[in-house]
Amino acid sequence: RTILLINGPNLNLLGTREPHIYGSTTLADVVSQAETQASELGVKLENFQSNHEGAIIDRLHEARGNVDAIVINPGAFTHTSVAIRDAILGVDIPFVELHISNVHTREPFRHHSYFQDKAVAVICGLGTFGYTAAIEFAAKHMKIKDR
Ligand code: DQA
Repeated sequence: RTILLINGPNLNLLGTREPHIYGSTTLADVVSQAETQASELGVKLENFQSNHEGAIIDRLHEARGNVDAIVINPGAFTHTSVAIRDAILGVDIPFVELHISNVHTREPFRHHSYFQDKAVAVICGLGTFGYTAAIEFAAKHMKIKDR
């Protein structure tokens, strides 16, 4: 079983970016913790971060047939990207949508997501613990499709 973790734009700045909202844990910390967790759960973890919409789309296309579940924090593309929505639906891989902050307590433009109606689950407001929760859920509870 393989889980693909995708982080979108500006998440490379995690730990230093608006720490009052996103905390002080870095993306490197999140990824190394996720890797440890995945090996404990006996799953393979692939990790990808990009600030570019097209690069995220290309990575999703590569995942087709190779990945069982996706955990994605699309960053600001959550609120703007029909193209990433179409890509994730196009490759037909079940996914968890994840936000570090509680987007519903923030600006109104963050309340809409192009992913929420298609996600198996949406996690927000748990801080970086959301990644741990999402990976555990993906590893233990998401159905594997025949391929
Ligand atoms: C975010 C929330 C988005 O609104 C924002 O654009 C981000 C991060 C989060 O993890 O809380 O970049 O997805």
